[in-house]
Amino acid sequence: MAIKIVEHALEYQDRVRAFNRRMKEKGSAWAFYENPVPRWIPKRGDQSTWRQYYLALDDDDEVRGGYCLKHQTFWFGGRVHKIASFQGPVSEGAVDRKYGLAAVCMVRDMLAREPNLFAFGGNEDITRLLRANRWSVLHTPLCLKVIRPYRFLRLNRMLRNSTSRRWILDGLAFSGLGWIGLKSLSSMRTIAHRHPLLADCEIVETFCDWTDELWLSSRESYDVSAVRDSEALNLLMPKDGWPPVIRLKITFGSQVIGTAAVLDTPMQDDRRFGCLRVGTIVDNFGLLAHSPRIVAVATNLLEQRGVDLIVSYQTHPQWLEAFRANGFQVLQNRRVLAFSPSLERQWGHAESLLCDLHMNTIDGDGPLGLAPVGSLRSATYPEQPEAGFYWKDDAEE
Ligand SMILES: CC(C)(COP(=O)(O)OP(=O)(O)OC[C@H]1O[C@@H](n2cnc3c(N)ncnc32)[C@H](O)[C@@H]1OP(=O)(O)O)[C@@H](O)C(=O)NCCC(=O)NCCS
Repeated sequence: MAIKIVEHALEYQDRVRAFNRRMKEKGSAWAFYENPVPRWIPKRGDQSTWRQYYLALDDDDEVRGGYCLKHQTFWFGGRVHKIASFQGPVSEGAVDRKYGLAAVCMVRDMLAREPNLFAFGGNEDITRLLRANRWSVLHTPLCLKVIRPYRFLRLNRMLRNSTSRRWILDGLAFSGLGWIGLKSLSSMRTIAHRHPLLADCEIVETFCDWTDELWLSSRESYDVSAVRDSEALNLLMPKDGWPPVIRLKITFGSQVIGTAAVLDTPMQDDRRFGCLRVGTIVDNFGLLAHSPRIVAVATNLLEQRGVDLIVSYQTHPQWLEAFRANGFQVLQNRRVLAFSPSLERQWGHAESLLCDLHMNTIDGDGPLGLAPVGSLRSATYPEQPEAGFYWKDDAEE
């Protein structure tokens, strides 16, 4: 069987629907976007950042898989370069070995379109395939701060996935021991890294000129970072679009020292968070020397809004230190970061790259699963319209 890859278009919508139906019938919780126009960063004119969907078709032009490329400009080697990251793929090979070729063809196709490619997100199924194709695969941390221990222990699903664990966590919550443990862990960290974490912030509607100035004055201190000028940030986090972030302009005295974007999401029956109110630091950027202040401002805002916990994916050692200084736990090996052979040749060896690479929640797959679906609810994806790929139900009893 030959597989060809095409850009998703309206004419394939019914065939994607049929693909999703077959995946479900064969027991998979994964599906692909039926609408060919991405809701997050569709291409409109000549823009630096956009997402595009591709489909794998068999000899009969039936859809057997799909993936998404996110084109973006990155700062590295003292210059701005165009590269891309991918999301997915999802392949019928996962449920029917007859289509094992689809995933290999999709990986080859994305590399032919953009050899300098990375993935930030994904799971072990895809890392097996990538490793077999000489990609470098790392696992990067998640920063977690529990603000309301009682609600966290009672309502989260991440930890409460077996009856015995549920009993223990309930015991901790009701006795107050969990509260004491989680609170003292977080305050011990804050004391150990004591900084005068003061700064001012203004909630802004869009990223404007001050973002460009901040980008130009800060970018030299990073080896590798996605371009975070006003054009890029307004495309990644559009006003009135997805993800519905709160944007912060952070100042210290008269100087703009950083920017942050946060989400405050009341989850409902979420596979990991249950019904918790989840704060996410989606993006953080600025002068590295001020990173603890920037994290402090974003954290304070979310705490004041009443979230139960705050999460953020981060890679840069100095930013990770800034999160620790603000009472976050750094949980290792939580998000896959994979580099194509060509990108690794350009950026340098994957392991050593982590010394000065700035990626966070907005990079790669973005805050899928952490942002509310709200106004984006669509008839085709009632559960997770913007995730596109349904989450696997990984709750184990
Ligand atoms: C992730 C996913 C796309 C991988 O597809 P898959 O078909 O399971 O991929 P596999 O790793 O089994 O590889 C497919 C075949 O290609 C082969 N292969 C891999 N690299 C190859 C290469 N360079 N040349 C030739 N064959 C190759 C594998 O050996 C395998 O062959 P086999 O079926 O004879 O064992 C699929 O499992 C999936 O859709 N999962 C659900 C969605 C998902 O998790 N997506 C990723 C994160 S969002």
